[in-house]
Amino acid sequence: MPEKPASDLVRIRLHPQGSTLEVRRGTPLQEVLFAYGVEFPCGGHGRCRGCRVRVLSGDVPWTPEEEQILSRAELADGWRLACRSRASVDVTLEIRQWEAAILADHSSFKFRPGEGLGIAVDLGTTTLAAQLLDLASGDVLAVRTGLNPQAAYGSDVMSRIQYALSPGGQPRLEKLIRGGIDDLIGGLITAAGGGREVRDVVVVGNTVMHHLFCGIDIAPLAHYPFEPARDGLEIMESGSLEWKIPGRPPVRFLPCLGGFVGSDILAGIIASGMHESAELVALIDLGTNGEIVLGNRERMLCASTAAGPAFEGARIRMGMQATTGAISAVAVSGTSHDYRVLGGGPARGICGSGLVDAVAAGLKLGTIRPNGRFAEGLKEWTLAPGVGLYQSDIRELQLAKAAIAAATHLLLLRWQADRAEVRRVYLAGAFGNYVDRASARRIGLIDFPLHIVEPSGNTALLGAKMALCNSDSTDDFSDLRGRIRHVPLAADPLFEDSFVDCMGFPEPDAQGKL
Ligand code: FES
Repeated sequence: MPEKPASDLVRIRLHPQGSTLEVRRGTPLQEVLFAYGVEFPCGGHGRCRGCRVRVLSGDVPWTPEEEQILSRAELADGWRLACRSRASVDVTLEIRQWEAAILADHSSFKFRPGEGLGIAVDLGTTTLAAQLLDLASGDVLAVRTGLNPQAAYGSDVMSRIQYALSPGGQPRLEKLIRGGIDDLIGGLITAAGGGREVRDVVVVGNTVMHHLFCGIDIAPLAHYPFEPARDGLEIMESGSLEWKIPGRPPVRFLPCLGGFVGSDILAGIIASGMHESAELVALIDLGTNGEIVLGNRERMLCASTAAGPAFEGARIRMGMQATTGAISAVAVSGTSHDYRVLGGGPARGICGSGLVDAVAAGLKLGTIRPNGRFAEGLKEWTLAPGVGLYQSDIRELQLAKAAIAAATHLLLLRWQADRAEVRRVYLAGAFGNYVDRASARRIGLIDFPLHIVEPSGNTALLGAKMALCNSDSTDDFSDLRGRIRHVPLAADPLFEDSFVDCMGFPEPDAQGKL
């Protein structure tokens, strides 16, 4: 093929990263910027503002759709939606998102010594984490993390399903995720020096990721009763995935638990040990899709609920991931507030943990009322120079926390247990790890005494490693799955009532107690 003439190419310089990309003139920015940390929370439909970038030099004309979602002042200041823009001339873009720190796992765990190497993968909707293990010693030899490349087509599972249902969508998403994990595995093997055979690969993820990785028709998850077509253990040949792993090991995607509750939660149960607990305990994974498990070694109930992306700082007006420049903590200081910015320097936005803190602080200061409205006359609460909290942000957080609180309430009802009978609450996932427990309690997100709430890190990855080291390739976890019942929440009138009840924020009594 003849080489394209140079005039067909344009340069995109990225600030502050300093990278320069050369792309075909007219390339949609969405095609190239995701790999550099720009997120597309609504899947590129021009609805959420989450993909904003600022044109520092060069010309990117704005579209009528952008006029609907960005203010005149923002457009004049160079802000554009990356999902609506193309590179037609050389440009310099400021991208607000930096590479996020992704939670891996370094806990010690019990294991049965084996031979060779093994790989555990946590396939999250937003992030990927993989570890290479020596199966004889249980030592972690290498770690690789990255963003799920599918996220260019939506930040939550519903927008991912929507894209998968478009012509050619599902095979494209399948190819992207298999390629993304292959890259991580390649990095693991290189880091460990190669040469040794890999015996087993275990992957865990939610039900949508399970379907999109394994090539199972996603359509049944798009409509009521949202039941998966197939949700058991899937075993594939690494060669059939076009992965070149020494030893050509089998790849096991662990089974789901029902509905949208996937093997990441099965792994969380294994990691927390709740399946061996004599006491009633709960596991709560706070993400765009919140999952809750309640139970003990006899029986467990699990449910999932669409919490929306507020905990990840998405769909928040000045929301961003927990990276450099994000306000990650807010605390009351006298009659005002104090805040902390990740990485120091000026605040650029607010991440999920900062949002929960800000609303908790606003409630204490009286800036925000228990019904979620700002105090009289306030339209925006300035948290830091250039970063404000808006009414719509509080609303997004109310929706997210009400979904989790109502799901927890419903599982307690179904179990016929009182909240006080719960002895421990494991908070799984990155947000659960970083959120301030007192603030989470103040807004009614986690309504349990602080001393029983335990941030538990990446339980999905830890559980995947435990499965890698303690189960064989045919183990379908039928004994454990037989003790877990999935409780569907969609269209359950009790859930809907409880959701409405949980929308407000708890009001302290006369002594200031919640
Ligand atoms: S507005 Fe561009 S991804 Fe949502």
